Amino acid sequence: MDRIVVEGGPRLAGEVRASGSKNATLALMAAALLAEGETRIANVPRVRDVDAMLELLRALGADADWVPDAVQTVAIDASTITSPEAPYDIVRKMRASFMVLGPLVGRCGLARVSEPGGCAIGVRPVDQHMKGLAALGAKIDLDHGTVEARAEELVGGRVVFDMASVNGTQNVMMAAALARGVTEIENAAREPEVAELATFLAGMGVRVEGAGTDRILVEGGARLAGVEHVVSGDRIEAGTLLAAGVATRGDVSVSGVVPAHLDAVLDKLREAGADVEASADRVRARAHERLRGVDVATAPYPGFPTDMQAQLMAVVATAAGSSVVTETVFENRFMHVPELQRMGADISVQGRAAHVRGVERLSGAPVMATDLRASASLIVAALPAEGTTVVNRVYHIDRGYERIEEKLRSLGAEIRRES
Ligand code: EPZ
Repeated sequence: MDRIVVEGGPRLAGEVRASGSKNATLALMAAALLAEGETRIANVPRVRDVDAMLELLRALGADADWVPDAVQTVAIDASTITSPEAPYDIVRKMRASFMVLGPLVGRCGLARVSEPGGCAIGVRPVDQHMKGLAALGAKIDLDHGTVEARAEELVGGRVVFDMASVNGTQNVMMAAALARGVTEIENAAREPEVAELATFLAGMGVRVEGAGTDRILVEGGARLAGVEHVVSGDRIEAGTLLAAGVATRGDVSVSGVVPAHLDAVLDKLREAGADVEASADRVRARAHERLRGVDVATAPYPGFPTDMQAQLMAVVATAAGSSVVTETVFENRFMHVPELQRMGADISVQGRAAHVRGVERLSGAPVMATDLRASASLIVAALPAEGTTVVNRVYHIDRGYERIEEKLRSLGAEIRRES
């Protein structure tokens, strides 16, 4: 069981390149099931979730593996799908597996994917996914925890989501790519990862309009061809690295990302007193003196991302003044609070709002990682803290961050991984 040890104190400085987006990659890998031919995806992050998705694609009968090249490419050929069933032990580990439902029912007329259980941050139902596929003519049954979708043929239809769901939107877009006729998705998620999937599908020969807005049109094709795609930079990893920089009152630049994808995060860092400059494919954030507390409420894109909530809380834990951090997307995404409190943070949670009173400095302590972003926030908190912090259960971090300790060490952090 690996753990990460941080000696708090050094101000981070320098430039680091973000890896490819984990969340975009997972959707694109599922979409590769749509094509009868080889798909190649480059700039893929070497994280555990990608390996889990490769394992799932192979279990379905696709050829799926890393390509020995210099640009971190995975090659997936789903010309033959031998099983329409996503095994529970894989879906259990990674709920993004549920996104194979749409492609599978489109390719095979049948799909069986175990219902992803809840996770640390909430119940995370998949009712919107099922509602969307049903609108395309799939017959959906729940059978002892397995979602079964059947459709002789998917037919384009109108899907009106009750709320914006990122993977729900992506699942329906992928099914619509193999449906006869046009599908209209209302109340679609607007995240950049949705727009990136649209670009990917267009490369396969699918007509997609409106991705990035809340109304998306998809016109399916009969047989789709494989595609080559380079994944865009991970906006959440970039935000995390910038948060680490300003938390230490340092000066960090992150390259390889689209700054516009981080607008809400950059605005918050500016509001807290950081100097933030964005150029073509990089962002620089500097904090010379103690930051100010800020209020933030998470929201679907383009609002402040829920995936950055824990990391921002770690930053304002030592800001001057108070901050109210409101989590509106997930019902239980404050798992990092007790751990930050162990480090001396002054936080009280009332329902969906965490009231943070900034303290001068946190103290290093042994802490426990619980979910991906909570773990990242503990590292952000540890970097400026007094003394040593040991973050246990680091596998949570490795799910979504590629070599985070190496990236931070290249910026001057005293951080190491211990087995
Ligand atoms: C994606 O999850 C991301 N994961 C999450 O990132 C991210 O936090 C989330 O979007 C929100 O931005 C991937 O893309 C792999 P949702 P997703 O469906 O699509 C409710 C990370 O740390 N909901 O947009 O599963 C749901 O419970 C991960 O990288 C339903 O009620 O999130 C939540 O409250 C964590 N019914 C809200 O909608 C549904 O059918 C938003 O969830 C679907 C969702």
